[in-house]
Amino acid sequence: MLPNPYTPGDRPRFFVGRATERQLLRDKLARVAAYGEMMGPLTIVTGPRGVGKTSLLRDVAGQAEEDGFVIAWVSCVKQHPFLAEVVDRVERSLERAGIGSSGSRRIKDLTVEVSAGFAKVRARLEAGPVAQPTALVGPLEDLLGRAGRLVRERGGSGLIVMIDELHAPLESTREWEYAPEQQALLHGGVLLNAVQNLAGERAGLPVGVIGAGLPQTKSLLTRAATFGERSHELVLGEFDDTDAARLLTEPAAALDVTWSAEAVTEVVRTARGYPQSLQILGAATWDAAAPERGSELDLAAVQAGSHAARSALASIFEARWAVATAAERAFLSAMARVQQPVVRRGEIAAMLATSTESLSMVRRNLIVKGIVEEAGYGRLRFTIPGFERFVLAQTTSTREH
Ligand SMILES: Nc1ncnc2c1ncn2[C@@H]1O[C@H](COP(=O)(O)OP(=O)(O)OP(=O)(O)O)[C@@H](O)[C@H]1O
Ligand SMILES: [Mg+2]
Repeated sequence: MLPNPYTPGDRPRFFVGRATERQLLRDKLARVAAYGEMMGPLTIVTGPRGVGKTSLLRDVAGQAEEDGFVIAWVSCVKQHPFLAEVVDRVERSLERAGIGSSGSRRIKDLTVEVSAGFAKVRARLEAGPVAQPTALVGPLEDLLGRAGRLVRERGGSGLIVMIDELHAPLESTREWEYAPEQQALLHGGVLLNAVQNLAGERAGLPVGVIGAGLPQTKSLLTRAATFGERSHELVLGEFDDTDAARLLTEPAAALDVTWSAEAVTEVVRTARGYPQSLQILGAATWDAAAPERGSELDLAAVQAGSHAARSALASIFEARWAVATAAERAFLSAMARVQQPVVRRGEIAAMLATSTESLSMVRRNLIVKGIVEEAGYGRLRFTIPGFERFVLAQTTSTREH
């Protein structure tokens, strides 16, 4: 039996599309490699859940490693300070690259320097809550700069720090006002300051920092430090039909399996360019058909897999529904009942017999949770296609009880 080549919820086996964003990031890295200088201000990849932020970062990381970069990968946690993790990951990534072991005298000296850098940042972090970012910015700059130079000394290109889920530490702990975890916010400020200073100096600092997070990441960063707004943002959206079709056909083609045109059209139509849904539908179709080399996945296979696909999608929907408050659920139900792909705020307010102003907090919280997103001025839509049907079903079943 052939293995299922689709990767719902996982790094894709065949990376598709994102040519512009990929090229942009690669160009930035190429500059670090060529000139041995800082990549520039913080670059962030943003977009709704499941759109492919982590996949893009992983893809760029893979390429960068081939180009001689050492990658420190950090995945942030909700309302949690994250600098200790950054320091830890930088240190581990150097160790894994075999840097810091033996080598020439010059390298040994540098290793000592870098270790001293780690010790300093770590001691500061462990000493308890820090009130002033200044206590950490300098040490973090030193650490990143030295680590990057050390990689370079060893013939590598430099150090790239990738910070996924960057919105998470900066999120509010309360729903009705912005009240972040203070140390987490401070760490955001420290990171921005350090990156900004390194970018200012630039020369001899072969370092880059790339983040990823939900659409609100940039505005959260701006709350952590005013020049958070200077970060360079790459916004990921849905796939167009060509890339969506390739996401389905390429993994199959590698195993000598084809898709019929109608089957592709049906899945592309259902998934509406959303990579996570495409992977789920692709995987379910494959499992239902259990194809052999040389066979074709047709419309019947898509239909046979649709039950499994729906339940896979339902578990994602349920997770989102579970984190919504009663007021948010009422908002979502009203939005779903409009039965339009893009819904005007006024229509939701009218459904709920209230004003758009009184709904603004609920609306904002739903955006922060990644359940809905803005689609032009005063308009909203669900981030995952099919969620409206799920919401309608939820509302109907609660009414029946
Ligand atoms: N460029 C791509 N080519 C093929 N598959 C992709 C691509 N981007 C994303 N996917 C698929 O879509 C799904 C979601 O991708 P990913 O986890 O990268 O999204 P994300 O934006 O990081 O989501 P989250 O916000 O939940 O972390 C995965 O199953 C992944 O395999
Ligand atoms: Mg992700």
